[in-house]
Amino acid sequence: MTVRDTAASGPRSGVVGWPVAHSRSPLIHGHWLARHGIAGSYGLIPVAPAEIAVFFAGFAATGLVGANVTVPHKEAALAACADVEPEAREIGAVNTLWMDGGRLRGTNTDAHGFLANLDQRAPGWDKSPGRALVLGAGGAARAIVWGLVRRGFDVAVVNRTVARAEDLVRAFGPAVSARGWDAVPRLLRDARLAVNTTSLGMDGHGEMDIDFSVAADDMLVTDAVYVPVVTPFLAAASARGLATVDGLGMLLHQAVPGFEKWFGLRPEVTDELRALVLADIERSHP
Ligand code: ATR
Repeated sequence: MTVRDTAASGPRSGVVGWPVAHSRSPLIHGHWLARHGIAGSYGLIPVAPAEIAVFFAGFAATGLVGANVTVPHKEAALAACADVEPEAREIGAVNTLWMDGGRLRGTNTDAHGFLANLDQRAPGWDKSPGRALVLGAGGAARAIVWGLVRRGFDVAVVNRTVARAEDLVRAFGPAVSARGWDAVPRLLRDARLAVNTTSLGMDGHGEMDIDFSVAADDMLVTDAVYVPVVTPFLAAASARGLATVDGLGMLLHQAVPGFEKWFGLRPEVTDELRALVLADIERSHP
């Protein structure tokens, strides 16, 4: 295991994953550190699956103040924490760690990221919550469904493997229902919000074929995928004239609580930060 850093002084954090080289978290946290003149650092921390339990068990000795955790280690992080916030336990994954009096603590900020993005870019989106349609039942969907239930939505989860959607019903209760893809046209008719969390429509991941013509004119459409920033799902919704919010803001907002815990200042998701990360995505996916 190597912990790569650019600065030697101040609190050190980073993102733990495998592979992790593609992560944009160092760009985000590096921007905030520079913006606020904080002497600290945030690096890439590649840890192979076979080594992750040992890495977390020895976390205190690394000298890190905390870390983000990404695929495939979020469940291992949950298991390794001495203390886990209720929402991370309910979602079943930890993406943010911090040391607290020698104890490793963890939470999940993905639901916060999802909700804060909509709050910022579509204010009032949850004023009269009704039915939300979530496509997919993987890790991202779990956090999003948890967040939507908290905001008072009834959530229909559509997944190719319906049993995985049924896991979310078991986890989050009667406000959630599980459906197969054949139910999408009917669900779209009375949904106030539609969310894609699947990789469908991306290169090599199969076709995304959604007919938004049946949707209400005021339905809001968003995506957890942010590469490309305008996904085929969002493009189809825009072509139908629906309001859309892209998934980049979810990535930016999920980073906020970790930065605050490690470096002592709650940073903002500004247009400047968004433009910085957008330019990086466009460079790597022209
Ligand atoms: P993440 O953590 O990013 O949500 P994931 O756990 O791998 O990623 O979940 C990917 C989601 O995309 C799942 O809902 C998956 O459906 P299954 O549970 O049936 O596998 C969905 N998905 C991926 N490729 C798909 C395809 N070709 N057709 C339909 N759904 C697909």
